[in-house]
Amino acid sequence: MPRSTISFIRRGQRVDVDNIDPKTTLLDWLRLQERSTGTKEGCAEGDCGACTVVLARERDGKLVYEPVNACILLLGQVDGTEIITVEDLASSDGLHKVQKAMVENHSSQCGFCTPGIVMSLFALSHSGKEAINRSDVNSTLAGNLCRCTGYRPIIDAALEACSNRLPDVFDDKAEQTLELFKQFRSLEDVFVGDDETFFAAPAAESSLAFLIQKYPDATLIAGATDVGLWITKGLAPIKRLIWLGRIRALTAVEETESILSFGAGVTHEAAAPYLEAIDHDFKEILTRFGSKQVRSSGTVVGNIANGSPIGDWPPCFIILDAAVELRAGLATRMVALEDYFIAYKKQNREPGEYLRRVILQKPSESDHIRLFKITKRRDEDISAVMSAFRITVEEGLITQARIALGGMAGTPKRARSAEAAIIGLPIKDITTWRAGAEGLLLDFAPLSDHRASAEYRMRVARNLVIKALAEIAGVPSSSTRIAGLREAAHAAE
Ligand SMILES: Cc1cc2nc3c(=O)[nH]c(=O)nc-3n(C[C@H](O)[C@H](O)[C@H](O)COP(=O)(O)OP(=O)(O)OC[C@H]3O[C@@H](n4cnc5c(N)ncnc54)[C@H](O)[C@@H]3O)c2cc1C
Ligand code: FES
Ligand code: FES
Repeated sequence: MPRSTISFIRRGQRVDVDNIDPKTTLLDWLRLQERSTGTKEGCAEGDCGACTVVLARERDGKLVYEPVNACILLLGQVDGTEIITVEDLASSDGLHKVQKAMVENHSSQCGFCTPGIVMSLFALSHSGKEAINRSDVNSTLAGNLCRCTGYRPIIDAALEACSNRLPDVFDDKAEQTLELFKQFRSLEDVFVGDDETFFAAPAAESSLAFLIQKYPDATLIAGATDVGLWITKGLAPIKRLIWLGRIRALTAVEETESILSFGAGVTHEAAAPYLEAIDHDFKEILTRFGSKQVRSSGTVVGNIANGSPIGDWPPCFIILDAAVELRAGLATRMVALEDYFIAYKKQNREPGEYLRRVILQKPSESDHIRLFKITKRRDEDISAVMSAFRITVEEGLITQARIALGGMAGTPKRARSAEAAIIGLPIKDITTWRAGAEGLLLDFAPLSDHRASAEYRMRVARNLVIKALAEIAGVPSSSTRIAGLREAAHAAE
């Protein structure tokens, strides 16, 4: 029998919730049901961080603390976690060290964004990293807006509270919390509701496959960083929800010498170390992919499954000859990622089918990777153009080229004319770079929208071809990159 409750830990106690609307967000439950109003609602779309809370989970016998946007996370997705909100930090010893540092550094002005900032910093203080630097703090706070621009004292407070931190009450009761988590290790499926309206969270892939076949119209969610917005902003009348986040097999990362595979439950944060090991440019994209909160919930496969023409991963994975594995019932099939996107909002996926995993081919020694994300704002912004390059150079000649772009068509797409225009040419020759850039004119006819005009997109994409080839040819990256990040990384190697 499936369990008919959403069950989690709150303030040291197990809580079981039944009889909920499957669309209930964690924020609504906290504020409207539990009446914990310390957590605020700002944008209700994952952008401002006012609603940040922390979820603790047991992983490999240890507790991990991750910040999430409660406004777009559904209550069902907290099953098996401990919810920690701003009300929970102070103890009989007084304010938590993060809160104290915020007070002492005069870091809080309006108080509206402060609870979310405090929770992000609380998660940072529990990240297990000993020496926290300014860049860690900036990256942590990219998803927390302070509208009165009081960042300097907030960063001071963060550095003070999160570096070389002493144990807090959460460390003191860690054993007790881990003991409570043992209650959630069972392999039962969760099904809250009835045939018409439900939140289902299967524990096994066989149950997931069965449910999707039985209810092909149900909405599947992984991190819900897209679907959450359909609910809060689109007011989508969703009645049946299936969450794949409890299936351990789908959180698998498989790695061999030549391939890397991410299951459908692998979040961007979990994938980060593997992607960063492929090339430093993945690190740059990751720090600019949403925010820590979005990366902690959102999944790599969800970024493909949503079929967005401006998702960051599809171009990066297409150049790595990625394929996706789909499953319907007991049958599975593989599709090359570049063939998965058929047209705008149309993908090679049948009703009753879901994506199991994405498999990437690792680049070889003679392959050069370049990834460039073009946005209006450096952090927390969706791409106007996303470009990815894998250029193979042997004895000074380009022997293979994979160029893929997002934001230039209704789907993420290979630039085959640009690729053909440069294969066989010398990498150091500036006319090669120009030939590649010209090739794009045959590959794309971009549209104008609120992110960028068609002219801008085409111009920037052509410049990116030149930038990628110039960098690979050996032009110092300090003249092609504002922050010189690639050079800094190479210097550190
Ligand atoms: C504030 C904010 C910032 C963001 N920034 C970025 C960014 O910088 N770059 C970027 O590319 N995206 C960004 N996104 C979009 C989003 O976070 C990502 O696309 C994310 O990877 C989606 O994954 P998810 O697991 O949350 O998907 P979900 O919301 O759970 O699902 C998305 C879609 O995919 C379907 N789906 C999910 N998993 C599967 C599966 N296994 N099989 C079949 N269908 C499935 C769902 O039914 C739904 O249609 C941002 C979103 C927010 C809210
Ligand atoms: S309310 Fe703005 S991120 Fe949730
Ligand atoms: S302190 Fe809240 S917006 Fe700056």
